[in-house]
Amino acid sequence: MKLCGADGKVDGDLGHCWARRIAPPNRCGPGIHKPASTSPLSGIKGDTLIDIGTGPTIYQFLSACESFREIIATDYADQNREELQRWLKRDPDAFDWTPVVKYVCELEGDREKRAEKENKVRSRGVQVLKCDVTQPEPLAPQAVPPADCLLSLLCLEGACKDLPPYHSALKNISSLVKPGGHLVLYTILDETFYMVGQRPFSCLYLRQEDVEEAVKEARIDFSFSVTDAKGACIVVARKIC
Ligand SMILES: C[S@@+](CC[C@H](N)C(=O)[O-])C[C@H]1O[C@@H](n2cnc3c(N)ncnc32)[C@H](O)[C@@H]1O
Repeated sequence: MKLCGADGKVDGDLGHCWARRIAPPNRCGPGIHKPASTSPLSGIKGDTLIDIGTGPTIYQFLSACESFREIIATDYADQNREELQRWLKRDPDAFDWTPVVKYVCELEGDREKRAEKENKVRSRGVQVLKCDVTQPEPLAPQAVPPADCLLSLLCLEGACKDLPPYHSALKNISSLVKPGGHLVLYTILDETFYMVGQRPFSCLYLRQEDVEEAVKEARIDFSFSVTDAKGACIVVARKIC
């Protein structure tokens, strides 16, 4: 499996890679956001951010490291967790995120702060943990503090084959959020598969109302859904109890 850079070029080789889905420089996903009041993450901050289904990517932490003291990255696939560890340890074989880091720094006002930004992400003591969203305790037996914010980008629709397991997975991961904490969910709508190189990956077909229903059922106070793109859904919600 090939790892594609943000420019779409094939850059590396990973067993289970998803970096192709990084928003290109003219479209920001929820992890890479313009520091404007329209950002779905503005105003959300705290001690602990848990990212569910991180993949081999660090882009989602580039802005989050400004708002959270501790970052916990999680994924089911060993290869993805290993790739993350390579970047965190400055392994020369790690994927080069430089263009993406510069782009985020530019959005935040200073393209030249790349090294500082990378240091800041690493200074958040990023833990990289095994996770399975299909389990009632997705991170067990690892113990983690309840999250002030739970982020999950493009994960559940790939991990779940049908709507009932999707509802369960959302409940499972929401157990990791403290009461009053936030959930930020980024989902592709109306999609059944996508390709990484030559390999197809299936994807649970979701409409926006399916996502909103699952969020409500997980007893998360649905606040708003924001998107500037057709076919994507960004939910920002707050846990009720
Ligand atoms: C499309 S990728 C998204 C990666 C990253 N969040 C991003 O935005 O680029 C989906 C990720 O979910 C992970 N995943 C699949 N099934 C999972 C499960 N049951 N529990 C946790 N993670 C899972 C995959 O290994 C993969 O890294």
